[in-house]
Order: sequence, then C-alpha cells, then structure tokens
Amino acid sequence: MRINQIYDLLAPIYRRVVPPMYDLATSRAAQRLSAGAPTTVLEVGVGPGHLLAAVGKRNPDARAVGVDISGRMLEASRAELEKSGTPADLVRADATKLPFRDRAFEGVVAFFLLDLFWKEKIPDALREMHRVLAPGGRIVVASLQFSNPVIKRAWMLTHRFMPDVFAALRPLDFKDFLENTGLRVLQDEVIAQAAGTRLLTLVKVRA
Ligand SMILES: C[S@@+](CC[C@H](N)C(=O)[O-])C[C@H]1O[C@@H](n2cnc3c(N)ncnc32)[C@H](O)[C@@H]1O
Repeated sequence: MRINQIYDLLAPIYRRVVPPMYDLATSRAAQRLSAGAPTTVLEVGVGPGHLLAAVGKRNPDARAVGVDISGRMLEASRAELEKSGTPADLVRADATKLPFRDRAFEGVVAFFLLDLFWKEKIPDALREMHRVLAPGGRIVVASLQFSNPVIKRAWMLTHRFMPDVFAALRPLDFKDFLENTGLRVLQDEVIAQAAGTRLLTLVKVRA
C-alpha cells in the first residue's frame, strides 16, 4: 500500500483522534514559527490542518499554504481551515518535489512528517524545505519522542516487525541530518504530551 493510500484511509479517524492529543505541541510549534514573523508560511504534510490553522491565527496577514500527498487529508484540512476562518492554499504534492519556487516562504513547518520517511529520503525532503525557504527563515520540525524507554522499545519492536503498517514512523534525531544543509539549530525542545514531541527550530543560514 502506498503512503497516500494509507493516509486516505486514516484521514477520517486521524482528524478526530490525533490533533487533541498534541494541542500543546501544536501551539508551541505555531509559536516557534511565528517568532520569525513570517509573511508566507508552508506546512509540508499538512494532514488535518490543525497546525496550519494555529499558525494562521497567530499570523493573520500571512499567506498560508499546506501540502499533502493524501487527497483525503487535504479534504480534512480544507474543512478545518474553513471552520477556523484561516484562508489557505492547499496543494497535493510530494514533500520531496515541492511545486514552489526557490525562497518562496519565510516559514516552513513539518509536523510528524520526516519520521515517516526512510533514512535515504530524509535529506531530499530537508533539501526541498531549505530550497523553498527564504534566507533567515525558520523551519520547525516536530518528531516523535518517547521519553519513556519501555514505550520507546515497544514501539521500535512493533515497527521492526511491521514496517509496512507503520511506514517508517519512529523516533529519529534530525540533528544527524543537518550537516551541510545550510540550516542551524535555534532551539531543541521536548514536549512531554501524548507520546511525546521533539520540536527542532532551525534557521536558514546559507543558500
Ligand atoms: C503523521 S501525519 C501528520 C499530519 C499533521 N502534520 C499532524 O501533525 O497531524 C503525516 C502526514 O504527512 C503526509 N505525507 C506522508 N508522506 C508525504 C509526502 N511524501 N509528501 C507530502 N505529504 C506526505 C500524510 O498524508 C499525512 O497527512
């Protein structure tokens, strides 16, 4: 099964169950992105749209764009963004081939997206986010973080034996992928809510 088909199937449940579990991480990510006062923001892997809605509330004059590979997730985010009164453009595309010009956005966020990718694809996605980001702009990356070692071990074992079910969803240290990317870490924080979230705030220091 392809990743878009998996998320097409998950969308109706995901949109109801997951966002309330991560409301603290969502508002923290929106805050970190907004600290750069962006006038153009992109969420890659926008899912049900709750984070883009939170970003839109903090930056009402910013142009908001959401990208996802799943059509059903884009439908869910359209409904969420309309409900919250956040105008946004939603585009179906792959994170590794973003259909935007270089330096088009002042802020980019990827919330629980990169940990879905196999390791060899992560640099491609980071390169694309870096490419569409303006110099000095911020990227906020949210990823899984299991602070409890027993839960982490159980998750990793489940993942190892059923990789097709979980795709590549597992905790990784994205600092390991930043060498020679032109991105520098501004902030690295862990939010102990639900399964745990690690938020990396990056800034583009080099083209
Ligand atoms: C775990 S969900 C996270 C959704 C949302 N950001 C959130 O935090 O709830 C991952 C999302 O990324 C999307 N996705 C997966 N692979 C993608 C890719 N290669 N390009 C764009 N979107 C992708 C999925 O369809 C799904 O909506």
